[in-house]
Formats: sequence, structure tokens, C-alpha cells
Amino acid sequence: MIYARIAGTGSYLPGDPVSNDDLVKRGIDTSDEWIVSRSGIRSRHLAAADTGASDLALVAAERAIEAAGCEAEDIDLIIVATSTPDYIFPSTAALVQSKLGIRNGGAAFDVQAVCSGFIYALSVAEKFIRSGSNKRALVIGAEVFSRILDWSDRGTCVLFGDGAGAVVLEASECPGILASALHADGSHHPILCVPGGVASGQVIGDPFLRMDGQAVFKFAVKVLGDVANEVLDAAGVQTSSIDWLIPHQANIRIIQATAKRLGVPMERVVTTLDHHGNTSAASIPLALDEAVRTGMLRPGHRIVVEGVGGGFTWGAALIDF
Ligand code: ACO
Repeated sequence: MIYARIAGTGSYLPGDPVSNDDLVKRGIDTSDEWIVSRSGIRSRHLAAADTGASDLALVAAERAIEAAGCEAEDIDLIIVATSTPDYIFPSTAALVQSKLGIRNGGAAFDVQAVCSGFIYALSVAEKFIRSGSNKRALVIGAEVFSRILDWSDRGTCVLFGDGAGAVVLEASECPGILASALHADGSHHPILCVPGGVASGQVIGDPFLRMDGQAVFKFAVKVLGDVANEVLDAAGVQTSSIDWLIPHQANIRIIQATAKRLGVPMERVVTTLDHHGNTSAASIPLALDEAVRTGMLRPGHRIVVEGVGGGFTWGAALIDF
């Protein structure tokens, strides 16, 4: 039996932290008290204008490859989850492959499932590995959400940040990913979207993130609880045997409500939201890498990672680390 195991993690945050008070100094009509009490966010990182998702992804990838103890040439599949790619095409994954110096490599492509993107990418990579077609995948979540924020909309611009996280997933005889589940319901697309595009050199529609925050909140809590239970049931695993829940970092109140629904105490939930903000597809691998590098998450631990995002999309994976 071939399984897919996480062999190494890495992440990267651009520049210095930008605090809530820094946003006020930049002219946004908000306050540290409002942002912390509604979301739990205290600071985030914002990429410089000349930095793209592939630049953030590259550093996270190099760190994950080093942690896995392999070389870039050993990677035969690259999947980047992003909603803020450098270009319309080529894919961010192809750019990362090139920047890693890999020539004539394996498949490289992007996955677009917004804040669930990393779970989607991880699940797709797992299936490539379990089929026997690939041996070592680089799975990356990388975002420069600051590019699609309307900085005059205080209800959204204070919530997001930029960053990247990566894992090396390799074929193994030992179980790694025990179960995964992916879902979507596109009928909910109006409550969280960037309803614009580019055609004939013009922006068509609205190029900024729009969100009905309260509708997103209710939807997220319901599906995150359901999908975590789905992967636990699929593997016949009790919630009590989970060492860490690593949810998408959107809002501390969503995370607390989900943990409560699942019966997981907050001491076993990894939260990085306070200093990362919501980094969309990057949030889960960023949290995963921070948990590893701070010694919280150790080999032998059992974790659930889960995300929900625009589309709507949602998913989870149960992993023996
Ligand atoms: N600073 C100060 N005041 C603000 C700000 C701000 N940054 N933003 C909005 N307000 C004001 C509004 O203008 C409104 O004022 P009013 O009552 O005078 O009209 C008031 O605060 C309340 O606004 P609401 O939008 O009703 O605030 P709410 O309590 O719903 O909180 C929030 C908004 C934080 C977005 C909340 O709905 C939420 O957490 N939703 C979840 C959405 C989320 O996490 N999205 C992340 C992306 S989705 C994902 O990753 C899955």
C-alpha cells in the first residue's frame, strides 16, 4: 500500500508585521479594539509592490525542501493553491518550478479554491502519489491578497494578509494522510467573491474582494464542523485522539465556534491568525509550519487540517504527522 506523508514544511511572510494601529496611521477608519474584538487579528504582513505570489512561494518551498532533506530535482509534482497568481498564465506553479531551477520536471499547475485551496491541492497531490504516478510533491499555498483588497472598504481590508506555506508530500509505506474530503456549492458565490476580470486590456466588473461577513461566518462554522467529522468518521477515528486541529485562519470566533462544535479544546487548536491575519490558501500551511518550528507539532501527532473559502468550497484532511 502506498501512502502520502508530509516529509517537511516551510513558510514565508514578507516584510515587517503591520499592526492594526499601523492601518489606522495609514488612514483606514478603524481601531485596534474593533479589529481584535471582531476577528482576533492584531497584525499581518503585506508584500511589497514588486513581490508576487511566486516569490513568496519560492522561499516557503525552499524551506520545505530543506526540512524534507531532499533536493529540488527530487520533486516530480508542484501544485500551488492561489487566488492571486502572478499572471493569468503561466501558472504560479510553473514559475516556482523555474525559480527552483527544475528543468524537464514533472507536472506543475495551480489550484483555485480560495481559502480551501491548500486542502484541495493537498488532496489532489495525495491522489497522484497514492496512484503511484508521482513520488514527491511540493504543495504550496501562496497569496498576495493585499492586491485584491479595496483599501477604502474597512469591513474587508483589515482582515487579510500576505504569505506562503509549503509542504513536501512523499510516497511512503507508513500512513500519512488517512482521509480527506472536498466539497463545493457554487450557488453561494455572491457572499464572497472578486467579481471581475480582465479582457481586451480593460478591467471588466469589480476587481476587489466583496464579502457578506455575517453570511460567511454562519456558513463557515457549519461546514467546518461537518467536514472535520466526515474525515474522522471515514477513518474511524475519535475526536479525542486528535493532537491538533489546524483550521483555516479567517476569524478567531469562527475557529472557536468550530472547535466547540467538534468538542476540541482551544489548547489543541493551532492559531496564528493574530499575527498572520487571513492569508487565504496560505493560512493552513503557514500555521502548520509555525506549529512544527515551535515544537508544538511533532512526529507521531495526529492532526486535522480544514478550510473553507469562496465558491463556496470547503474540505478537510486527517493526517498522521
Ligand atoms: N473598523 C471599525 N468599524 C467597522 C469596520 C472596521 N474595520 N468594519 C466595519 N465596521 C463597522 C460597520 O460599518 C458597522 O457599523 P454600523 O453599525 O454603524 O453600520 C459595524 O462595524 C458592524 O459591521 P458588521 O459588518 O455588521 O460587523 P460584524 O459584527 O458582522 O463583523 C466581520 C464583521 C468581522 C467581517 C464578521 O462578519 C466576520 O467575522 N465574518 C466572517 C467573515 C470572515 O472571516 N471572512 C474571512 C474571509 S472568508 C474565509 O476566509 C472563509
